[in-house]
Amino acid sequence: MARLLFVNMKIAFVGKGGSGKTTLSSLFVRHLAATAQPVVAVDADINQHLGPALGLDEAEAAALPALGEHLPLIKDYLRGSNPRIASADTMIKTTPPGAGSRLLRVRENNPVYDTCARSVELDGGAARLMVTGPFTDADLGVSCYHSKTGAVELCLNHLVDGRDEFVVVDMTAGSDSFASGMFTRFDITFLVVEPTRKGVSVYRQYKEYARDFGVVLKVVGNKVQGQDDLDFLRAEVGDDLLVTVGHSDWVRAMEKGRPPRFELLEDVNRRALRMLEIAADATYELRDWERYTQQMVHFHLKNARSWGNERTGADLAAQVDPGFVLDESVTAPV
Ligand SMILES: Nc1ncnc2c1ncn2[C@@H]1O[C@H](COP(=O)(O)OP(=O)(O)O)[C@@H](O)[C@H]1O
Ligand SMILES: [Mg+2]
Repeated sequence: MARLLFVNMKIAFVGKGGSGKTTLSSLFVRHLAATAQPVVAVDADINQHLGPALGLDEAEAAALPALGEHLPLIKDYLRGSNPRIASADTMIKTTPPGAGSRLLRVRENNPVYDTCARSVELDGGAARLMVTGPFTDADLGVSCYHSKTGAVELCLNHLVDGRDEFVVVDMTAGSDSFASGMFTRFDITFLVVEPTRKGVSVYRQYKEYARDFGVVLKVVGNKVQGQDDLDFLRAEVGDDLLVTVGHSDWVRAMEKGRPPRFELLEDVNRRALRMLEIAADATYELRDWERYTQQMVHFHLKNARSWGNERTGADLAAQVDPGFVLDESVTAPV
């Protein structure tokens, strides 16, 4: 199948715990790496398993630097010389870039990657991996200022992804991602759904939130066995159902710590991964950097009002640079 020429995609895998987000994210990352496409993989799931799913052993996974522990460095770097952001302390997860901010690119080297990313060797290529770090009870509650996924949101808001580059984020479909603007940061969101009522209810809730923000949402049915499962998902999800994946012996072997070569992944699952890639490619035309920037501002003002101003003692609305639009014209190497 021919690939389109201009693809540069931010992709989220979301779903309820156990649905297969991490498994499918890792397969998709392996698929991209195997076709020599630059990819940054980000683990923002409550259960941090993306590293192991990409083949890291326990010690390697435990040694991954946590984004959540490097927030000051990330903020200082991204802030650059932006005069609207007085200090890293006043930078919250939704603070948008403006003139003077530093932006991130998938392929470059920068202090954020040096500190927070590790290269993972995969069959046929490598991926950059960044992880939020393990979540504590405090992360799952109200907030906010030290939020681990906040580091990811900051990076996404400062990321200008160029041609043929991918950012794949494994994340929980929780209320945290709706309170912030995280769920609007992607070209396409793959919602992993098992053929169960619980799975479908997560879909309904996500769709509801996503509707007002032009989020492109596609359902990936997982652990689908047989016609009855397929009929159920079709009936509940309709046209949003992109593709289904059944039980994979390859995945099971990988879980046992004995991953076969990636080229041995079942044909039907390889086809499913190609379907995901094609669906992602197809959203390129829908890209709207102005809307993307406006949404950052929308969520920033909302967070500033609800907790940020009080927490930082600053008027965070003043951080918004009204003349700034994030777009690909700033991707040209300097
Ligand atoms: N298609 C599949 N075939 C075989 N095992 C699967 C498949 N999808 C998920 N699993 C298994 O189900 C469990 C939960 O999957 P995981 O990706 O960790 O879910 P999540 O990240 O959504 O919590 C894991 O043990 C994983 O190996
Ligand atoms: Mg997971």
